[in-house]
Amino acid sequence: MLDFDEPSNSEESLLLHKLSISPSKKTHKNNGFSNAVDARQNTDYKVSKPMTSASKTDTSPIMAEPELMEEKKRFIFPVSSSLSPVSIGARRPDASAVKIIGGQGYDVRQPIPLKYPNIRQHFLNARNNFWTPNDIAMGDDKMQWNTGKLTEEEAWMFKCNISYLTASDNLVPDNLDNAILAQITANEMRQYLRWQMAEEANHIESYFFILESFGLDVEGQGQIFNLYQQVPELTAKLNWNLTFTNNVVNCDAPLGSREANRALLEDLISYYIFEYLFFPLGFSQVFALARQGKLRNTAQQYQYIWRDENLHAINGRWLIRQIIKENPELWDKAMRERARAIINEAVALETNFGKATMPNGGIPGLSINSYTSYARLMANNICQALGLDLLFDIKEHPMPWLSEYEMKQEVNFFEGRVRDYRVGSDLKWE
Ligand SMILES: [Fe+2]
Ligand SMILES: [Fe+2]
Repeated sequence: MLDFDEPSNSEESLLLHKLSISPSKKTHKNNGFSNAVDARQNTDYKVSKPMTSASKTDTSPIMAEPELMEEKKRFIFPVSSSLSPVSIGARRPDASAVKIIGGQGYDVRQPIPLKYPNIRQHFLNARNNFWTPNDIAMGDDKMQWNTGKLTEEEAWMFKCNISYLTASDNLVPDNLDNAILAQITANEMRQYLRWQMAEEANHIESYFFILESFGLDVEGQGQIFNLYQQVPELTAKLNWNLTFTNNVVNCDAPLGSREANRALLEDLISYYIFEYLFFPLGFSQVFALARQGKLRNTAQQYQYIWRDENLHAINGRWLIRQIIKENPELWDKAMRERARAIINEAVALETNFGKATMPNGGIPGLSINSYTSYARLMANNICQALGLDLLFDIKEHPMPWLSEYEMKQEVNFFEGRVRDYRVGSDLKWE
C-alpha cells in the first residue's frame, strides 16, 4: 500500500494556484531515446546524469536544438517512448523493467509482459459498456422542450450545463492526447487511455444528438453550445483544467525528470477531479430535472455517460496512486499541500458554476446549498483516496437520491427492461 505519511494539517499553508496559460506551445522533450539508444546507455544510468559530450554526438532528435540544450543545461532521461524507432535485435520487455511512467530500456509496443493486469481489465470492462446515443429514444424530451415544459430558470441551467459538458468532454481526450499518453510506459494503460478517448468522443456525440433531437437547427444549437465562451464561470472551469494541460505540454524539463513528473501529477489530479467531481455535479442538474419528470430521455443519456466517467475516475485514481507508489519522492509535503490546494480550487470553481447556472438559488429539488455540499463531499472523497487530510466538514450525502441515476445495471433499450449487468463490469470503487 502507499505510504501517505506527513499529512498536511494547515489549510493556511495551501499554495495558491496562480498559473497562466502560455500561448506558445512547445513539444515536451522526450529526448528521442529509442531502444537502440537505450541499449547504448550504461545500465546503471541515473536519471540525474547530466548530458555528456558523448551523448551530444548522438543522432537522436534532441540534437535538433543544441543551443537550447546548452543554455538550459538539460539532463538526459532515456524514457521509453512511442516515438522511439524500432530497434533490430532489441530484447523483449522484461516485467521488472516496466513502469507506469518513466520506463526505460524497452519498447512500449508489446501487449506483454502484462505488468498491470487490472488495467487490462479496465479496458475490457469499458469495452463491454460501449453504447450509442441514438439508441435512446428522445421523443418525450423533444415534446417537452418545444412546449415550454421547462421554466426559464431550468432552461438556462440546462443550456449552460450541456454547453459546459460538451466543451469539457473535448478537454479530457485532448489532455490525454497532448499531455498524458506520451508519458505512459505501460502498454496496457496506453490501451485503456486510447479507449477512454473514444468514449469521450461518444459523449460529445451524445450531447450533439440531444440538441439535434430537440429539433433545434444549427443556429439554435450554436447559441447553446457557445455559452461556455460567454458565461465567465463556465470559461473559468475550462481554463483551469487547460492550465494544467499546458503546464505539462510547455514544461521545459525532460520526460522523467522530477519537474516534469510533478507537472504530470498535477495534471492528472486536475483531470481526476474532472471525472469524479465536475462531471457528476453537472449530471446532477439534469437528474434533478428528471426527478420532476423533465428531460428524462436526456437524463438517460447522462446516466450512460456517468457510467463511463466513473470508470475513467477509477482508472485516473489508480494511475495517480501508482505513479506515487513507483515514485514516492514526488509525493512530498509540498506536493501533498499542492494537491489539496488544487482540490480546494476545484470546489470554488464548481460553486461559482452552480451559482451562475442557478442564479436564483437553485431549481425545484436542487438548491445551491445542496449542490455546493455535494461538491465538498466529492472533494473529501478525492482527498481520502489520495491519503490527504479532508478539506471540509461534511459527512452525509446531500443528495442521496442521485443513487437512483447511478447505473449499475444494463438497460435493454429496445424492450425497456433492466437485465443483469455484464459480469466483469463492476462500477464499484476498487
Ligand atoms: Fe466524457
Ligand atoms: Fe471521462
